[in-house]
Amino acid sequence: MSAHDSLDKIALEIQQCQKCSLAKSARQAVPGAGNPQAQIVFIGEAPGYWEDQKGIPFVGAAGRLLDQLLASINLSREEIFITNILKHRPPNNRDPLPEEIVACTPYLRRQLLSIKPKIIVTLGRFAMNFFLPQAYISRVHGQAKPVRWEELDLLLFPVYHPAAALRNGQFMQQLRQDFQQLSKVINQKDQPAPPPPPPEQTSLF
Ligand code: URA
Repeated sequence: MSAHDSLDKIALEIQQCQKCSLAKSARQAVPGAGNPQAQIVFIGEAPGYWEDQKGIPFVGAAGRLLDQLLASINLSREEIFITNILKHRPPNNRDPLPEEIVACTPYLRRQLLSIKPKIIVTLGRFAMNFFLPQAYISRVHGQAKPVRWEELDLLLFPVYHPAAALRNGQFMQQLRQDFQQLSKVINQKDQPAPPPPPPEQTSLF
């Protein structure tokens, strides 16, 4: 596998993948979509019904909420890349199984190493736990955490899953606030690093 594994090549492999049984029950794979040079990657859990129909991530109800949240901080889908932990829909949208995560996440790893983002926004606990296996989303959501992952220096930004927010008003409120915080983190990242402080003046007299 080359360091410059292109996203198209990875997508083609995902479309042909038979490493777990989900490929049999799903209609099609959902490799991911967006800017191959994105500075920000959003990672969800797994395709749902509409994503499975269309082959595009976050196009159902949770996707419409995600679009609103992105618009609220002036981000468009063209600027970012969106993908999932699992690339095929689990039957009836059940949780991903550990063996499915093991089989599927090498594709995510290759996608990230190809894109080389600066910020990863994890949507929900499955995406968060891929990077921070011990973390609890209730404790860490809305906080940027610098991590060295593989060869990348990343800012991880965990938030609640939009589907969870659609079911629970408190999560919705948190998610909206967390996106405002994400906007600040993105703007800080865009600023040039401040110059180092001048060396201390030591008087010879
Ligand atoms: N939920 C996800 O986690 N991913 C999608 O693509 C859609 C819904």
